[in-house]
This record gives sequence, C-alpha cells and structure tokens, in this order.
Amino acid sequence: MLKRAGVFDSGVGGLTVVKSLLQERLFDEIIYFGDTARVPYGIKDRHTIVRYSLEALEFFKNFDVDMMITACNSVSAYAIEELREASEIKIAGVIEPGVEALFKRSPDQDASILILGTRATIESQKYEKLLRQRGFHNLQAVAPSLFVPLVEEGLFEGKVLESAVEHYFHDLQEPDFIILGCTHFPLLSHAISAYFPRATLIHSGEAIVEFLQDRYEIEQPHKRPTLKLFASENPDHLKAVANLWLD
Ligand code: DGL
Repeated sequence: MLKRAGVFDSGVGGLTVVKSLLQERLFDEIIYFGDTARVPYGIKDRHTIVRYSLEALEFFKNFDVDMMITACNSVSAYAIEELREASEIKIAGVIEPGVEALFKRSPDQDASILILGTRATIESQKYEKLLRQRGFHNLQAVAPSLFVPLVEEGLFEGKVLESAVEHYFHDLQEPDFIILGCTHFPLLSHAISAYFPRATLIHSGEAIVEFLQDRYEIEQPHKRPTLKLFASENPDHLKAVANLWLD
C-alpha cells in the first residue's frame, strides 16, 4: 500500500506532476523537494545529475516515504538505476510512464513522434531507446532550451513565446504525438498545440498517474492529500508558484 510519496524535481517545474497526483488523490501525503538552489539540471552532465539525485534520496529518508517519484525528466533520464540501487523504497521516473502512455494511445507504430526535452534528456536518448523497443521508429527529438526560462519568467503566452516556438519547430513536420519530456513544458501546452494543432500531447503528470494506477495497489483516499513543500533555496518562491499553479 502506498500512502506517502516523495516527489523530486530540479526546481519548481515538478509541480506540474504534483498537480496530476493531487487531482487523482493517489496518496495521503506528498512531500515535494525542489532543488531550487541548483536548477537547471537539464544543462548538467550525467555525473552531476546522479550525485544531486542521490542527495535528494537522502533528504526523503527523513520522511519515511513509500515511494520516490522523480518528476524531473533529466533525472529520470540519468539517475533512475543509481537511485534504485541505493534505495529500499520504490523509485518511479517519468520516462517509462510517458512511453507507456503513448503506447496505450497509439497502437500504430508508424505514428510520428516528437520528443521535447532538456538538452540532458535529449542527449541521453532514453525516450528513443524505450520507444524503439516498443516498435516506434518515426521519431524526432528536439531540446527547446529557451522554453524553461520562459516558463520561469511566467511567459505562458505572447510574442516572445511564439517566436521561440517558431524558432524550434519551423523545420519540423507536424507529428502525431508530442512527448512533453520536461516538467516545464505542460505549461506551454497552449502555444505548442497552437503550432501543431493535430498532435496529441503526452504529459508526464498524466502518464505517471496512469502508470502508478496500473502497477500498484493504491488506496484512493477520499480527502485531498496533504502537500508539504521543501526547496534547497527560496522556499517562499516555491510556495508562491504552488499557489499559482495548483489553485
Ligand atoms: N525539471 C527539468 C526536467 O524535467 C527541467 C528544468 C531543468 O533543467 O532543471 O528535465
């Protein structure tokens, strides 16, 4: 039985995943840790991402969590094996769930898929590997690095965002599916869908909810889960963003 989850992200972006977990009431309690002092992870190398992730695991040991969910795609791309080796609790990343969510929605292996992620996630080729194992072969991968700071600036619409979208997407074919392989990108869903209106978006939050429901016996609590927020720097900013994004 899973009651308490630790959700880890490089910063505030993982709240997009928390939002889905709260909506579906999968846990009684969620402990969120954002490594706001060291964000962004998406431009760091594998060793650094693994080291920071193992430190986050130590942090969660104080809270007796049943599971650690790495909301961060960059962590999910590089540190899952190391976290599993170092931990007695369950560890769930968001990449495997994202691929499963896509597989459920598309039995057609010729479907064209655009993977969006940080530079770290795209360079790891983790999504591609798992998608190819499932028979998908029509893949494109792009790291729209400017999307993360745009979200951090609260620019969810407008000319600056539109020109960034144009910059990264102008020479791509419209895909059937777009994997939003970064915590921040669901907040830009409107702009991404406006550019590629026929593409179905795969969101890490929805994907992890489906994955957990499929895999684990989760007692659905009736009350709204408690959320405790921790940050390695400026926790007030994390709380302010949570108030904004999580209503
Ligand atoms: N949380 C990161 C991810 O999903 C995005 C922000 C960062 O680069 O740290 O990959």
